Amino acid sequence: MKDRYGRNIDYMRLSVTDRCNLSCDYCSAGKKDTGTNPLSKDQILAIASAASSAGITKFKLTGGEPLMRSDLPEIIKSIKSLPGVVSVTLTTNGVLLSDKCEELKDAGIDLINVSIDTCDKKEYQTLTGSDKLTKVIEGIRACIANGIRVRINTVNRGSKTDVISLVKFADSLDVDLRFIELMPIGKARDMKGSPNLDIMKTLENEFGTGTEDEAKGNGPARYFSFPKLKIRVGFISALGEGFCDECNRLRVTSDGKLKPCLCFGDVIDLNGALKLEAGTREEALVKLIKEAVDSKPERHTFGTPDGITETRGMDYIGG
Ligand code: GTP
Ligand code: 5AD
Repeated sequence: MKDRYGRNIDYMRLSVTDRCNLSCDYCSAGKKDTGTNPLSKDQILAIASAASSAGITKFKLTGGEPLMRSDLPEIIKSIKSLPGVVSVTLTTNGVLLSDKCEELKDAGIDLINVSIDTCDKKEYQTLTGSDKLTKVIEGIRACIANGIRVRINTVNRGSKTDVISLVKFADSLDVDLRFIELMPIGKARDMKGSPNLDIMKTLENEFGTGTEDEAKGNGPARYFSFPKLKIRVGFISALGEGFCDECNRLRVTSDGKLKPCLCFGDVIDLNGALKLEAGTREEALVKLIKEAVDSKPERHTFGTPDGITETRGMDYIGG
């Protein structure tokens, strides 16, 4: 699907729950359940099916914490079997990963991003309210052992982010790591991380000059290799450089609201269409998905906070 600015929209982020078993300050601030009704498996599959008919080929399952849903492997398997789907990937905090990894492999998951903002156990506990860092690392190792591609996501929390330790830690696991600029959404609205440009300088001082790698993922990250590292380090620089010109995505919140852009509160509610009979439902959903593509704004306004009209948190939106 092409939008008004000629961008090809072929990627959908589906938030499957707004519940999370961690409570990171920038994301949920201890709120375990925001009280919205998560979509059922059938509703998620109806949306994915309509999206694939409309031209979406890549799906990202997010949350909240998506692995808190016991039917996630079935959801993955069903989306994978839709015509034209080329990848189904997952972004998780990894706490439940070691237990679920084989099921995810059997379901056909193509890649898993695991969020780790610190490799220091005490700091992890302070940030997340949980002592599960060892369990998360176990999950990453289980993925590697099962042949699942895995990457680490680190949200850049300014001076609280120990860049060198994290990169050495990821290198020891042989897993690529991405630094994500903290976006002013939800609880993070009044928080400040540092720009990825600063992180790049720190890395080059320690590991040598970075060379950009042509190979990219499905998302906005740019990847670099460094002489003294085995792994690639990625940068998701929503504020610094912005990547709206290449935006390829739509988002669906855990309660069935279609979001044309992360930054704005405007949504298209899919719940009415989801109540229709199966025969007319798909057509109605396709129409709404195309409407969302047609209404995608040219760019976000993260640089001018007054322009940000999204008031909900990342746990609800799904990142
Ligand atoms: P893959 O390459 O498919 O793994 O995609 P991804 O990097 O987009 O996935 P992930 O769920 O790991 O998201 C990483 C970070 O990028 C999160 O903080 C997202 O909020 C952010 N992000 C993803 N897409 C966008 C986008 O379109 N705009 C902005 N501003 N941020 C995004
Ligand atoms: N800015 C940037 N990334 C965020 N995430 C959650 N909140 C924010 C924010 N305000 C990240 C999570 C996860 C991904 C889906 O989004 O840590 O890696």
